[in-house]
Amino acid sequence: MSLNYKGQNLFVDNTSIKSIAKNNITPFYVYSYKKIRSNFEIFSNYFRRINPLICFSVKSNSNTSLISELGKLGSGADVVSEGELLKALKAKIKPNKIVFSGVGKTESELRLAIKKRLLLINIESESEARLINKISKKMNQVTPIGIRVNPGVDANTHSKISTGKLNSKFGLPKSNFLRFCRNSRKFKNLKIKAISVHIGSQITSVGPYRKTLNILYKIIRSSKINFEYVDLGGGFGIPYQNKEKRINIGNYSRLVKKFQKKLNCKIIFEPGRFIVGNAGTLISKIIFIKQNRKKYFVIMDAGMNDFMRPALYSARHNIIPVSKSKKRIVGNVEFVGPICESTDTFLKYKNFSFLNENDLVAITNVGAYGSTLSSNYNTKPLASEIIVKNGKVNIARRRQKVSEIV
Ligand code: LLP
Repeated sequence: MSLNYKGQNLFVDNTSIKSIAKNNITPFYVYSYKKIRSNFEIFSNYFRRINPLICFSVKSNSNTSLISELGKLGSGADVVSEGELLKALKAKIKPNKIVFSGVGKTESELRLAIKKRLLLINIESESEARLINKISKKMNQVTPIGIRVNPGVDANTHSKISTGKLNSKFGLPKSNFLRFCRNSRKFKNLKIKAISVHIGSQITSVGPYRKTLNILYKIIRSSKINFEYVDLGGGFGIPYQNKEKRINIGNYSRLVKKFQKKLNCKIIFEPGRFIVGNAGTLISKIIFIKQNRKKYFVIMDAGMNDFMRPALYSARHNIIPVSKSKKRIVGNVEFVGPICESTDTFLKYKNFSFLNENDLVAITNVGAYGSTLSSNYNTKPLASEIIVKNGKVNIARRRQKVSEIV
């Protein structure tokens, strides 16, 4: 854990959160560089024998400083929009380490991606291939593409973050994929370099990945194309609660090694959550505490505008005090945000460390899909993002001013 208590007070690595909060308006995101680096190294080590290109999935956390730190560790980027692409380039990720995914890339986004000569544009429809071919022809270029296949595999994850089933909008189903491969010669300005797949997110068992590898292998053989790259996407789950299952990446890595040996291809991964999920914390101040007959409502200044996962997926993110008290609130405690929606509610506890109004609390494991899913709902400014690195507190994105959104 990057979070730890020294005495009663919460620290990110060796930096006290209270001290950060002295100079920064709450709510704010704080990331541990040390944790991000160690996650990246753990991931790379698991797959050492495969020597993959790891393209950090920027949608999980698109802070430019954070992407830049990952770039220095050797990461590439998986992007899904013009904005993400520009951020990855600003973070000095080389175009030949960037893959562009997404089911609905616009013409102007594709033009930029083609011009920048990215490693791959992963197409998801024949129409997209036609458009890339047309733009590339005008630019007198041959564009390397990957084809995303929909393997028809259930990732056994939350239905809202499952992408590999046949009824999902992502990728080409097998028959369309094979037809596309047969007819691909007509696209003179495309070079098919990769097959890609991504079956979902927060996957906690190897089974769905194993199924996907088997299906991919068969599809690749039937296509009779020698793909230089197989892009296996992301999806690696992390434990959000103590007892939650952990995915056995070591086992998966052995399966991928065998797969790679049979096909003699390069492997790409696009992890997001695994790299940053447990490296981020959202610090919030308690505005008011009110009590009704059944419970205490602890009303925080962080809401679903700052952190959407609980409202969107009923995700459970633990909340802990920034200063522990020896006393406890005994009774039902429900943490809620200030937004005018009933779904703007966070975890409920049976009892909790004693809290006063103006105290700070920490919402944990919010490094992935935290800040990137935040919004200006209720015309609230976007929170600042802070990276703690080697004891230094760096403002990686300043808090939006209300005047900027009014
Ligand atoms: N590659 C592709 C093509 C993707 O669509 C995604 C995530 C990833 C890689 C990275 O997946 P990861 O390794 O982070 O699981 N907002 C949801 C998650 C949505 C995931 C969308 N695609 C959440 O908060 O759980």
